[in-house]
Amino acid sequence: MSSNEDLFRKVIAHAKEYGFIFQSSEIYDGLSAVYDYGQNGTELKNNIKDYWWRSMVQHHENIVGIDAAIFMHPTVWKASGHLEAFNDPMIDNKDSKKRYRADVLIEDHCQKIENKIHKEIKKAAKRFGDDFDEAMFAATHPRVIKYREQIQEIKDRLYKAMDDEDLEGIKTLIETLEIVCPVSGSRNWTDVRQFNLMFSTQLGSLAEGSNTIYLRPETAQGIFVNYLNVQKTGRMKIPFGIAQIGKAFRNEIVARQFIFRMREFEQMEMQFFVRPGTEKEWFEYWKEERMKWHFAMGIPREYYRLYEHEKLAHYANAAFDVEFKFPIGFKELEGIHSRTDFDLSAHQETSGRKIQYFDPEINKSYVPFVVETSIGLDRTFLAILSHAYREEKLEDGSERILMRIPPFLAPIKAAIFPLVAKNGLPEKAREIMDQLKYDFMCHYEEKDSIGRRYRRHDAIGTPYCITVDHQTMEDNTVTIRERDTMKQDRVSIEKIHRIIADRLKIGKD
Ligand code: GAP
Repeated sequence: MSSNEDLFRKVIAHAKEYGFIFQSSEIYDGLSAVYDYGQNGTELKNNIKDYWWRSMVQHHENIVGIDAAIFMHPTVWKASGHLEAFNDPMIDNKDSKKRYRADVLIEDHCQKIENKIHKEIKKAAKRFGDDFDEAMFAATHPRVIKYREQIQEIKDRLYKAMDDEDLEGIKTLIETLEIVCPVSGSRNWTDVRQFNLMFSTQLGSLAEGSNTIYLRPETAQGIFVNYLNVQKTGRMKIPFGIAQIGKAFRNEIVARQFIFRMREFEQMEMQFFVRPGTEKEWFEYWKEERMKWHFAMGIPREYYRLYEHEKLAHYANAAFDVEFKFPIGFKELEGIHSRTDFDLSAHQETSGRKIQYFDPEINKSYVPFVVETSIGLDRTFLAILSHAYREEKLEDGSERILMRIPPFLAPIKAAIFPLVAKNGLPEKAREIMDQLKYDFMCHYEEKDSIGRRYRRHDAIGTPYCITVDHQTMEDNTVTIRERDTMKQDRVSIEKIHRIIADRLKIGKD
């Protein structure tokens, strides 16, 4: 097992043990790729939502938020193209009986070639030391050039086959590249078939003649169909945005990797409506804004990279992914898409309603163009959790698990402990709890040794532990212990509020 797989396994186990994430319906052996958030997970998730909402809606005067229903009129999905085009090409291995996304198998193969390039570069960097010019080496070394050409050729063939819906061509590519099933190791593949990712259900009773409706696969359509309502009632002027946080559902065939790929998940999406012709400018603006949002959490920048799409979704004319270095490798965390007027025009045509904006500055009506930012809430959660997890050996030989969750996102901001559960200490600790709990999520604990209580809160990422001891009763001071350094200071009770508030400022860590 690689150290990354090992880390991933530990994060999953820790998430369960400390009330962050549980498998759905676990007592019935769980439901595949569906998860529940526990007591600490829910707090962390709410804090992430709040951070996103404030930075998008509260900090931008021209963005407002909505909360659309999950069920929508079935024609929405016809107009949006999801009924036609929201498919994945799947292939089964006849020996392992496992099903894979055919394009992902091919992209993983390309990643293996990419890894060979990294190996060559690492080897050369070691050989040449300080004189090493990586860009020059990558541009001139024959093996690196050959690998790059191989990747390009494979991707060209894959994207062409996908564009042409040439399922046989995709299978031929898998065979030509001699890709084997990661489980059985065999090349015994079925044909490639398309699967639509939308879940459907019935609206109304069968007797009345029911209608098939769909669980939304993205929240964005709830924004598009409300464009006119919000623009008119909010008297919004272009450029403006509509934001939304909510559940989305996809019948992911390859649903592994914990909360990275789920069948029920949550998205935080914002559609920004702009004058046609200005979309590239706004696309750049939102790329930068969104990266600032990520970096302000304090996770080192090398954990992020931008990836430009060559193969675009059916609605986009440009797209970037913000990728994060998860323990399973660099993977998509957020998508920033220039969606043109694809969706609004489609709804205009299908509904017969005029969805246009009269722009007084140019004295013209038009269907606005859209730049979208779309981030997975669960993936953001996983990024924070996996980066936060750290095992530490302490000076006294003991060990602790520390969750370095950015303090402003931590489930509990301060834990309050009486050193012993007698001599008036619990009452004093409760007094402090009452002072703080209206502003901060706090936790009161009096069970177990103080050391064990500290460990429990290190393991859920509580930035501060406040201990009431005998001295408190004499001079109104407490000890306040900081999570990462374990440093303890004695401070007067009046100062606690300010110390915590200061630490919770965004970008502080
Ligand atoms: N409205 C555009 C849209 O839905 P997407 O790239 O398909 O674009 C946006 O999804 C984000 O939603 C992704 O970057 C990812 O973070 C999250 N996401 C997508 N599918 C997911 C799944 N099955 N499980 C968890 N998160 C998912």
